[in-house]
Amino acid sequence: MLRLDTLAKRYKTGDHALKGVSFTVEKGQVVGLIGPSGAGKSTLIRCINRLVEPTGGSIYLNDVDLAGLSGGELRRARRRIGMIFQEYALVERLTVMENVLSGRLGYVPFWRSLLRRFRQADVDKAFALLDRVGLSEHADKRADELSGGQRQRVGIARALEQDPELLLVDEPTASLDPKTSRQIMRLIMEICRESGLPAVINIHDVMLAKMFVDRIIGLTAGEVVFDGAPALLDDAVLTRIYGEEDWTAMQASAAEDAADAAATYGAAPPERVKEERMAGLA
Ligand SMILES: Nc1ncnc2c1ncn2[C@@H]1O[C@H](COP(=O)(O)OP(=O)(O)OP(=O)(O)O)[C@@H](O)[C@H]1O
Ligand SMILES: [Mg+2]
Repeated sequence: MLRLDTLAKRYKTGDHALKGVSFTVEKGQVVGLIGPSGAGKSTLIRCINRLVEPTGGSIYLNDVDLAGLSGGELRRARRRIGMIFQEYALVERLTVMENVLSGRLGYVPFWRSLLRRFRQADVDKAFALLDRVGLSEHADKRADELSGGQRQRVGIARALEQDPELLLVDEPTASLDPKTSRQIMRLIMEICRESGLPAVINIHDVMLAKMFVDRIIGLTAGEVVFDGAPALLDDAVLTRIYGEEDWTAMQASAAEDAADAAATYGAAPPERVKEERMAGLA
């Protein structure tokens, strides 16, 4: 379980990126973080694993306050947090398997990591994860031989290889086409449900968030302005989160996406379209 208590960040430049953010994420729950550019979404994600130093508040992960840790304790705590990145952050010249195993590096003694010698249990786990994300055939390929969607699957497997207690995801689909985005979101959701992992996912695509996550938190200028079920995210709330102008522009691009989906499905009823999307068929 993750609990943020009045988390604050003021950058040295004076930017007050987070102004006291509080919320709790239960085991297995996936929270989608939405909000306009500059709202503080990435800052929030990075504060949780202390890539950015918070200037106030607490971050409890299973009752340990990460904000108070340093040195070895902080390194150990970080191992328990899996990260998935927009640009995948793979080592391009290494194989898929090696990239997944690198998720284990926080646990492996330094000399072993130099020789890239991993325990058989870690290798077995990596194979099982590659199978889970649908890449078992590609274990020996180099990362730079994969498509964007496949790379993100490697990113997911790598995050899981470290046995995380929390998953943090910053714009996982921003570099992917709409169909692949839906498949990746579905995979992340399924994995969190299967393993009871709590997750915070920063998503710029509101429709994608509504379609998949359990709960949405809207951030505007460093403050939570909405926290609730995706179904409650109506025009009034979205205007509050994004402002009139931006929300109107986003609606226009969402309408284009919908037209694209309709062209794919013909006259399929909306519920079926939604189910098929959930099933990753679209
Ligand atoms: N390293 C930094 N130094 C100073 N200010 C920063 C830094 N990183 C972010 N900020 C500022 O903090 C605020 C929040 O930025 P952040 O990147 O968290 O927003 P975001 O919601 O992720 O935006 P986007 O949707 O564009 O990715 C912005 O005003 C930004 O300019
Ligand atoms: Mg960001």
